Amino acid sequence: MSKITVAESAGFCFGVDRAVKMVYSEIEKHKKVATLGPIIHNQDVVNDMLSKGIRIVNDVSELEKDETVVIRSHGVGRDVYQQIEKSGNEVIDATCPFVSRIHKLVAEKTAEGYFILIAGDENHAEVIGIVGHCDENYLVFRDETELKNFFQKKSSKKLAIVAQTTYNIIVWEKCFNVIPKDDPDIVIYDTICNATETRQSDAERLALEADLMIVVGGKHSSNTVKLYDVCSKYCETHHIENGAELLNLNLPDAELIGITAGASTPAYIIKEVQTIMSDIQKNFEEEMNFEELLEQSFKKIHTGERVTAYVDKVTDAEITVSLGTKHTGYVKLDDLTDDPTKKPSDIVSVGDEIDLIVIKVNDAEGTVILSKRKIDELAGFEKVVNAKEEGTVLEGVVQHVVKGGVTLNCYGLKIFIPASQSGVPKGGDLEVLLKKKVKFKIIEASENGKRFIGSIRAAFTAEKEEAKAKFWAVANVGDVFKGKVKSITNFGVFVDLGGIDGMVHVTELSWKKIRNPRDVVSVGDILEVYIKELCQEDNRISLGYRKTEDDPLTLFMANNSVGDIVNATIVSIAAFGAFARLAEGVDGLIHISQISFNKVNDISKHLTVGQDVAVKILGIDTDTRRVSISIRAALEEASNKAGESDEVVYSDEQ
Ligand code: F3S
Repeated sequence: MSKITVAESAGFCFGVDRAVKMVYSEIEKHKKVATLGPIIHNQDVVNDMLSKGIRIVNDVSELEKDETVVIRSHGVGRDVYQQIEKSGNEVIDATCPFVSRIHKLVAEKTAEGYFILIAGDENHAEVIGIVGHCDENYLVFRDETELKNFFQKKSSKKLAIVAQTTYNIIVWEKCFNVIPKDDPDIVIYDTICNATETRQSDAERLALEADLMIVVGGKHSSNTVKLYDVCSKYCETHHIENGAELLNLNLPDAELIGITAGASTPAYIIKEVQTIMSDIQKNFEEEMNFEELLEQSFKKIHTGERVTAYVDKVTDAEITVSLGTKHTGYVKLDDLTDDPTKKPSDIVSVGDEIDLIVIKVNDAEGTVILSKRKIDELAGFEKVVNAKEEGTVLEGVVQHVVKGGVTLNCYGLKIFIPASQSGVPKGGDLEVLLKKKVKFKIIEASENGKRFIGSIRAAFTAEKEEAKAKFWAVANVGDVFKGKVKSITNFGVFVDLGGIDGMVHVTELSWKKIRNPRDVVSVGDILEVYIKELCQEDNRISLGYRKTEDDPLTLFMANNSVGDIVNATIVSIAAFGAFARLAEGVDGLIHISQISFNKVNDISKHLTVGQDVAVKILGIDTDTRRVSISIRAALEEASNKAGESDEVVYSDEQ
């Protein structure tokens, strides 16, 4: 009895899956769509797209007006982006994010004066795209021999080495042997896609044990050709594009048959190959007709297949769906959603059309277990990867405190936030975040999509930077803001103006003399402040808090003028004169020469602190805020009025 094993990582990789979905999504919008080259190296998928009206163009000049152009996952050079921009056609960029990363790397290193070495096939679309992000200082090499030749001729240059994402890892490792060790002028970026690496090593492991390997994928797909190369070293290997091709091969009656597939091979083709292969093997025993087998295989439902179903029944524990076959489909609550607060009826209704993934088929019972959650996770994966690439801030509710951090759920995926990125001070209690909705950024995404690391701190910093930029774009001296007191020091108060802090100096807090800002405000107070001074270079925002209309000098001047006789109270005595309080917050100076008609030597013999006196206002300087007052002038005026001498009121010496 033969056994058929499908390699775990066979088939569509993330980048191809994403590109194909992007094209189908454009088709659904009924747009005129053209792809720049075939979207994937799979004729079945390409034919399906052609039948839906998609055009394949080889050059931007072939685009029709109003046609949306899709850049495939291989990516393109800078010049192609420029041509599209010039053409005015709408563009959907399905370049795989892992390829975009290489574009960014080579562009940055070129700008830093590095010579770029690219491991790959110079005629492959991905390599042509990468080259399009270098200037003339690059070389594409196929293998370690070509690399060795380069190093033999190498002049002193700074070198950056990258690889085509689908480059053969065995050859890549051999290349390391010819690269000079510990040369600080050589930087190597391992840009081989994890998906490719995993697929190749899975295939190699399987081929080592198998008697026959079937490699499924486009005849022009470089990663499929490499899979074929890897497997054919160990056993009889055939490269086919679809299940029907198996019927034309002279296959042996093998005990263990391995199946693997390139990145452009949809799951349904792998399943089709598996089914036909299984039937061929059975036929060795039963001598069945191949065409009959093929016919039967198409009617089956396969694990891992994506299907569209209609909801027949909704209960609290599961839903029942019809798939258009003799099977009855079930989706349990756990496979419907990962939100424990939701019931099936919150998510679907009878008659709804939903996309599902087949988890388990029981042909004997005629039942199929399906999952909606897995579909949602795939969509979520793409959103989260895009959010990382674009630096988007996401939101999620913290679900668990775990060792070293917290976890939250976003788009159906578990995100780990390390304690150091949680925004909770070192040693603080992470429980404060539990069940809280937080904003975060993705700072790490493993290429196999199994691990995502987020940072609340990074989102906070990003928001702060954004708030700062907004503030500096509109802020002007004199603008009034309401802000919260964040912290208080002896020299002033820091006020949060909405993501950016300004400072109110202690002298700006009150018209009265205060010793400590805490006498006037507390942390958390809301103050209405205005901008006194701005300096974006130093990030300095000086704020004012005192209002002109509250200025005691202004209030005093509203009722009193130079020449007026007013009452005052002596508040202090100095060698050169005495200070007298005219109003709360307004003191005037009586110069020693203005105390009496007679010469005064010792002021304390004429005046005492607390004594009330009549004074004449001689002058008010609003700039220096000094008020000059005179007892002598007041006496003189009183004397003139009464025709009496000052001795009537004051004696010179006591
Ligand atoms: Fe991208 Fe890797 Fe596929 S680079 S297109 S995910 S093989």
